[in-house]
Amino acid sequence: MEARLIILITLCVGLTACGDDVSVEPVTASGSALCVADFEQCVNPVFDAVITASGGQATCAGSGCHDVNAGSGGAFKVFPQAEPGSPEMMSNFFAAKGFANLNDPDQSKLLLEPLRGVFAISGTHTGGDIFPNTADACYGVIHDWISIRVEDSNASSCGFCTPVDVSTCGF
Ligand code: HEM
Repeated sequence: MEARLIILITLCVGLTACGDDVSVEPVTASGSALCVADFEQCVNPVFDAVITASGGQATCAGSGCHDVNAGSGGAFKVFPQAEPGSPEMMSNFFAAKGFANLNDPDQSKLLLEPLRGVFAISGTHTGGDIFPNTADACYGVIHDWISIRVEDSNASSCGFCTPVDVSTCGF
């Protein structure tokens, strides 16, 4: 009996001590959604921007590129000049998310296709090199969007991005 009591007391003392300095591990987002607000504010403007690419001025949502109505940009199709909150903007959101690798953002075709270089999963990009390297501000804002996973695409934790000055993007 006495032995058990000692063990019990020791356990209580131990637990109390643990309680005090247990550090709370940051919860890593493991959701399967991405933020709509940050897409509208920071990513979609990159698709509409006129960027100096390796082959001259280029617009991702331009006709002949990824314009849903007049593009030849593979399966990645977006509506140019989509209005915030519109069905067109949501269509762009899902189109972009379809080329995002949430488990390994660096390996997203949405990033690798326009990035200078030839990569295993994307090969060459008919649209040319849009982002000279991973330090490019437009590359960065898309990478940040893909890296922040949420449970709900309208979660209160959304709204983290800062729009980039797209004139600083490209070559
Ligand atoms: C930031 C801008 C851009 C992004 C994010 C982007 C992204 C992509 C993605 C994800 C694909 C693969 C689609 C698939 O696998 O079906 C792709 C392919 C393609 N893109 Fe772009 N692109 C951009 C700019 C452009 C521009 C400016 C043009 C036109 C001058 C263009 C023309 C094409 C074409 C023709 C393809 C299909 C052939 C291929 O896979 O290379 N893209 N792009």
